[in-house]
Amino acid sequence: MTAVLGFGGYVPDRVMTNDDWAAIVDTDDEWITTRTGIKERRFAADDQSTLDLSELAALTAMKDAGLNQDDIDEIVVATDTPEVYTPDTASLLQDRLGCRNVPTYDLGGSGCAGWIQAIDVARARIAFEPKKVLVVGVELISRLISWEDRATCVLFGDAAGAVVMGPGDGKAELLDVISGTDGSKADILTLQTGGTRHPFTVESAAAGDHQRLEMKGSEVFREAVRRMSAVTLELLEKLDRPLSEVALLIPHQANKRIIDAVGHKLGIEEDKVFINVDRYGNTGSATVPLGLWEAYEQGRIKPGDLVVLTAFGAGFHWASAAMQF
Ligand code: UT7
Repeated sequence: MTAVLGFGGYVPDRVMTNDDWAAIVDTDDEWITTRTGIKERRFAADDQSTLDLSELAALTAMKDAGLNQDDIDEIVVATDTPEVYTPDTASLLQDRLGCRNVPTYDLGGSGCAGWIQAIDVARARIAFEPKKVLVVGVELISRLISWEDRATCVLFGDAAGAVVMGPGDGKAELLDVISGTDGSKADILTLQTGGTRHPFTVESAAAGDHQRLEMKGSEVFREAVRRMSAVTLELLEKLDRPLSEVALLIPHQANKRIIDAVGHKLGIEEDKVFINVDRYGNTGSATVPLGLWEAYEQGRIKPGDLVVLTAFGAGFHWASAAMQF
């Protein structure tokens, strides 16, 4: 049995509203609200980095679990916006938290589904050896998006979420995880510059290519709805649990219209679907653990509740996880 021992999260203080964006690019509150449901998002302060966000979320989760740095046996960080190119953000986090020399690794590039993939990896590691694994999902996207591309810049925000997982009993049991990938869709949502195919050059930096997130929005939208609903149903079927038993669905928060369409396709009541995209925008791999932490903190999850998480992102990757509180 794999348990979640503690939940945590962190959002930076700086609020960036739709009107703030309208003062920078050719957009307005009405377009952003009707097309995405986003009203505002949080941006990290200039002196904050991915590591700072990760640390604050990790400390909340460790406190909630009643554990300190010496109790952590392994650290996984899911992020597409790491602290540095190398080494992994997780090793820097191990040092920052003052943990022992335990193994660490990042799960990078999996976009918004990365954190659910990371808890699946942690689950397998715990089954192999009883360990307490810290699993963080973090993005500091505001520093890597183009501040000139209205089609992408208004969508994202910065945040971190975390859990500590371990064997035995805890606050929730991780019942199962299902994930999948369609690598043929890699070009539909991608940031190309910086890898070996397109290394950084003076010209690419001058052209802002390192911030050029390419996204075919409507194709991503359609696939997100299709994959998140299908993988959620597949998971419930595997667990032999009807949808009516789900107390709360926490979907990836990219766009309120995507969330509504997933809810509609599943036929789940609106009040059982968690939403915070209006306040934080799309925070990539942080949306699901952040939503989980908020729902838990707000008392929206009660003992005995079946909670289902689902996410979709670049890759394309998709995943669903079920937790029994
Ligand atoms: O987390 C996984 C990654 N991302 C996603 O899941 C995002 C999935 N996609 C979406 O959420 C939506 O496709 C978007 C919100 C990105 C776009 O919404 P849409 O309804 O698909 O709009 P569109 O891309 O078809 O654009 C419609 C129009 C275009 O103008 P024209 O060509 O019709 O004249 C855009 O240029 O809206 C224009 N537009 C904007 N207008 C004002 C695009 N961005 C903006 C903007 N403000 N910020």
